[in-house]
Parts: sequence; C-alpha cells; structure tokens
Amino acid sequence: MKVLVIGGGAREHALCRSLSQDPAVSELHCAPGNAGIARLATVHPVDQLDGTAVTALAERLAADLVVVGPEAPLVAGVADPLRAAGIPVFGPSAAAAQLEGSKAFAKDVMAGAGVPTARSYVCTTPEEAAEALDAFGAPYVVKDDGLAAGKGVVVTADRTAALAHAAACDRVVIEEYLDGPEVSLFAITDGTTVLPLQPAQDFKRALDGDAGPNTGGMGAYSPLPWAPPGLVQEVLDTVLQPTVDELRRRGTPFSGLLYAGLALTSRGTRVIEFNARFGDPETQVVLARLRTPLAGVLLAAANDTLADLEPLRWSEEAAVTVVVASEGYPAAPRTGDVIDGLAEADAADGTAWVLHAGTKADEQGRVVSAGGRVLSVTAIGKDLAQARERAYQGVAEIRLAGSQHRTDIALKAAAQ
Ligand code: AMP
Ligand code: GLY
Repeated sequence: MKVLVIGGGAREHALCRSLSQDPAVSELHCAPGNAGIARLATVHPVDQLDGTAVTALAERLAADLVVVGPEAPLVAGVADPLRAAGIPVFGPSAAAAQLEGSKAFAKDVMAGAGVPTARSYVCTTPEEAAEALDAFGAPYVVKDDGLAAGKGVVVTADRTAALAHAAACDRVVIEEYLDGPEVSLFAITDGTTVLPLQPAQDFKRALDGDAGPNTGGMGAYSPLPWAPPGLVQEVLDTVLQPTVDELRRRGTPFSGLLYAGLALTSRGTRVIEFNARFGDPETQVVLARLRTPLAGVLLAAANDTLADLEPLRWSEEAAVTVVVASEGYPAAPRTGDVIDGLAEADAADGTAWVLHAGTKADEQGRVVSAGGRVLSVTAIGKDLAQARERAYQGVAEIRLAGSQHRTDIALKAAAQ
C-alpha cells in the first residue's frame, strides 16, 4: 500500500513512524513533512492547504491512501477534492471538519445529539460578552469561535482580561467553567462505526504546575491509571456515537479521527471541545501503545469498512511524551537555532524516540528549530514511572538554545 500523509508536525511524524513499521505499507510519502519525517518518508514540498496540488500529488504517486493530519487543511477542505477523485482519504470533509473549525457549530451539533457539554452563549458584541460573563460568573471561559492552534481559549478570574479577549475576536463562545481532570479520547470512524482508542491526558499549560498560558500541548501520557474503569464505553455511548450519528443525519458524515476533549466534572463527563484530527501530543503516546498495524485501520475508515475490522490490540506498556519548545513559546517563539543531541536522545534499545514538530534542515544540512513546539521525546516503559524516566533522559540529551519543557509531565499519575 502506498500512503501519503499530509502535514509536517509531531503528529504526522508519529503517524509516519507507525505507518513505516506496518508491513502492509510499501511506500510512504509526506507533504510537506519536516526534518525528522524526511528520514522515514519521501517528502514533497507541496502546500498542504492547496487541495488541487495535494490531489495532483496523490494521483502522481498513485497513493492508495491519503491521511490528512492537521486541522488547517481539513477545515480548508483538502479532503474533498481527494474524495472527488476517488482516492481513499482518512480525514473529514470540510463540512464535517466544522466540528473543529467552529466552536459554535460544535455546540449546535452537541445540542442536537444530546451530548453533555458546558452551557454556553455565542457572542459578537462587547455587550453580549459582558452579559454572558456575568451570567456564568468567574472563572470565565472565553473561546475564539474559529481555529487558533490551541491558543484561542482564555480561562481567567479577571473579568477585564476576559472582556479584552472577547473584544479581540470576531465571534466568541462564552461558557460555564468545567472543573475536574481532563481526558482526551480519540475515535476512528467511517461515519457510522466508531472505534475508540485508548484515553490519554494532555498538559495544555506552558509551565510546571499547570501555570502559564494555554499552548498546543506540552506533554501527554497513556494509560490513565486514575480514570474510572467504564470511561471509554461511557464516552462512546454518550458522546462519540451520538455525535457521529448526528453528523450523518445532517447529511455531513464525519469520517476520520474524532477527538473528544473531556472534563470529568463533579456532575459527570462533559465535552470541552471536539477536534477533527489526531491530537498533538496525545497521538505520540496513543500510537506508541497501539499494536494493530495502523494503515489497515485508517484505510478501513476511508473505505467505510470499519465494522469488519478485528478489535484493536493494545500494549500493556505505558507511554509518556515530553514536548521541547523554543524560547518565547507560545507568545513569540524564537526559531533558527541548531538542535544538537538528536541521535543521542533516541534510546539504543528503541524504548525512547524523538518526534520532530517545528524543525527543518538548513543549507548545511543541520537540523534547526522552525516553530514553537520543536520536538517531543516519547518513551514506553513497564509503567508510567519508567516511561517518564526514559522520556526525560531523552530530553536531557537535546541541546537547543533557550529551549523549555515541563518537568512534571505524568508526574502525579506515575506516583499513584
Ligand atoms: P479548547 O481549545 O476548547 O480545548 O480549550 C483549551 C483548554 O482550555 C482546555 O483544554 C481546558 O484546559 C480549558 N478550557 C476550555 N473550556 C473550558 C471550560 N468550559 N472550563 C474549564 N476549562 C476550559
Ligand atoms: N492536544 C491538544 C490538541 O491537539 O488540540
């Protein structure tokens, strides 16, 4: 099978790593890729938002499957011309990707499907925003309606800051604050059948102890030893399946990866957000534990044959990933610095490995930083404590001027 992956972050590196280990995959391509992906796949300098160019590339390569990784091309509708050309594609249509592209749309779908989520108002004027903030009280939750790379959400006790964020966005969703731990649960779906993966937890804040601004994610781990035993089945029954059924009923079936960001509140499980793609950095740990070869699962979703698939097989091992970000991330990331220690960070016994996010090769062939989240080190172990220790051993090998990482990824869960 020839597979083309669209995107060039750590999620796509993780997808390419799993696909490269799948004996069914004979050729692996990625556009645009990054410096790490280039070692596993043939990379192509194609604009990932250009559906015509992506379709032309897929046709030229005679790809049997195209996997669209990031939200930007999905929301831009890159999957649509691929499907129209008869190419199997893993990733939702533009219409279904609105589940991530518009928080107001997602709220509407959840209301239609009876999915539990935070009560909310959609506001377009400062007066509406002020009224909504006062209706819920502090802490305030203000979300940019559109895509914002994980940085469109402000959670604050400061009413002035909440109003300022609302004023800076065209349209915002203001909602009640959800307490309780967060869980990310991914499901692969063909629009009818829903196959949940294993839950993971992401660390969204920039600094240790969940301080600092929201980011795209600073680390993750799986499994969650503290999660209630019936969680996956409950979320399948009350969130994932009803959402997939509702989108099919509306005539915009969702095919691809449905990501439920959940809060386990004192009043029950609530959806914080949906994404229309694998989450980063959770994908790094979820795929590290998946034993079933990946390509066949993604192809079955693309071909509407998930119902025929054997149950997924999972490793008993634990996985931890730690993100190394550039100086100044998320506000003003510094780029263009040489990264050393990459080879040393890959454990000789294969228990820890580097996945590139914002990297590129410079003219001299050196790997340099090219984004806010630069790379992540993922490790597996017999338990979270061992996986964590191995991931941080890898991080300690990385030398990048000014770089930052959290030191408490999976710390509490490993201590349990
Ligand atoms: P989102 O982009 O919707 O996932 O929001 C990013 C992060 O903001 C979430 O992972 C939560 O940590 C936080 N957040 C979002 N919505 C809420 C809410 N209603 N209550 C509490 N925290 C929230
Ligand atoms: N881990 C958060 C996200 O992918 O949106």
